[in-house]
Amino acid sequence: LGKKVIHKQSTPSTQIIAHQAAQENADHGTIIIADEQTNGRGRMSRSWHSAKGKGIWLSIILRPSILPYLAPQLTLLTATVLADVFSSYTNTEPLIKWPNDILLENKKTAGILTEMQAEQDQIQYVVIGMGINVNQENKELPEDIKDKATSLAIKTGKHWPIKEIIQEILITFEKAYDSYIENGFPEVKEKWESYGFKMGEVIFIKTLREQFKATFSGIADDGALLVKEKNKTQKKLYSAEIEWFK
Ligand code: BTN
Repeated sequence: LGKKVIHKQSTPSTQIIAHQAAQENADHGTIIIADEQTNGRGRMSRSWHSAKGKGIWLSIILRPSILPYLAPQLTLLTATVLADVFSSYTNTEPLIKWPNDILLENKKTAGILTEMQAEQDQIQYVVIGMGINVNQENKELPEDIKDKATSLAIKTGKHWPIKEIIQEILITFEKAYDSYIENGFPEVKEKWESYGFKMGEVIFIKTLREQFKATFSGIADDGALLVKEKNKTQKKLYSAEIEWFK
């Protein structure tokens, strides 16, 4: 992992560069890093603020030999990697909000965007993009996310060396990935659930079709959210937003 690193000072999105590189046969483990993204993208066609030198804007190209429907496992794995790294850098215990927002004291510090190219039952490649707010001060966070977002600097009161954190993430990622390929999903799932925000609690769920209250009972092997409404059988959700009661 990281034998080849493509570094851009400024780019619309490291995801775009990663797709191009992967289509030109870039190796498994190729990393794309940018100091700044001018059109960073998030999940659900949202944009992702990626100011110069303020955070880690990075995409990893993977070529795993797993079935395409299991690709969400890689997103969940990445979330546990970031949570592990954050817990070693801060004194706060990070939590992962399903599917893959890393929270510090209930505010989003990092997000993950996984995109895949697959044909029939075979993955050509997966691009895992991570956006991590590192050195923004509160006043530097965009107005629309100020209430819900934070950075490592805001949480710890100090400036962090970006390169060192990238290295730590890549080392931790490689270990977790190798162990996942060798031992499968159970240990990733266990770790994810140990960081799971509101695990076992009653949450408010919004999907495109409905909204309801249910207990968050865990995650499934395909990455789905498992919830149980009172007196009903367990449901699997693939696309939903979690809200909670304060
Ligand atoms: C989300 O929480 O919605 C996911 C955010 C993912 C942002 C990262 S930054 C590096 C990579 N390039 C992008 O354009 N997006 C991802």
